[in-house]
Amino acid sequence: MEYLLKNGKKVLIRKPTVEDAEAIINVMTTADTETLFLARNPGEFCTPVEREKQIIENVLADDAVEWFVAEYDNKVIGQCSVGLVRRNERYRHRAGVAFVILKDYWNLGIGGRMMEECIKWCREHGIAQIELDVVKNNDRAVKMYQNFGFEIIGTKENALRYQDGTYADEYLMVKKL
Ligand SMILES: CC(C)(COP(=O)(O)OP(=O)(O)OC[C@H]1O[C@@H](n2cnc3c(N)ncnc32)[C@H](O)[C@@H]1OP(=O)(O)O)[C@@H](O)C(=O)NCCC(=O)NCCS
Repeated sequence: MEYLLKNGKKVLIRKPTVEDAEAIINVMTTADTETLFLARNPGEFCTPVEREKQIIENVLADDAVEWFVAEYDNKVIGQCSVGLVRRNERYRHRAGVAFVILKDYWNLGIGGRMMEECIKWCREHGIAQIELDVVKNNDRAVKMYQNFGFEIIGTKENALRYQDGTYADEYLMVKKL
């Protein structure tokens, strides 16, 4: 779906196609050098293009998960995913979400629009609660999640260990639908 942003420009939030594989790889590898708030060290994401295309096809064929890319100025500049935390019947009311946007495009409202698409998917799939982990001092992300009604329900100490030997805690945040 296309959204108007606060800077007057538009962002298209849509499902990926296999043609997006290289752009998605670029978002992941670049983002890992731009922020300490993601799961990987720079260089750790090294999925080859053909494998990425397969992953896109698999996700598109899977009812339990959805993937969105953000297209801005005809370029893929971010992505997010939403999906069941586990497929067993007892867990099918719970979904997880994850977001990444290239630094040049932060604070335009794109993350919020991606969240709207994820929440829509959750409502359509009978999800009762949405969950995520976020690095404790990732103020921008925590603010965005709180704007959407997510609450901090716990803290995982030393969840991440960085290359310099320091650690980061993570909040577990949950939104009930
Ligand atoms: C986190 C992320 C997805 C948010 O997307 P975004 O498009 O930048 O966010 P939005 O513009 O929709 O909203 C950000 C909100 O945080 C607020 N914000 C911005 N900087 C902030 C800061 N330093 N402290 C607190 N709040 C801040 C903005 O004002 C906005 O709130 P508002 O809508 O009430 O004004 C994006 O910044 C990103 O990809 N960051 C790097 C990767 C990452 O951290 N991913 C999340 C891992 S859990």
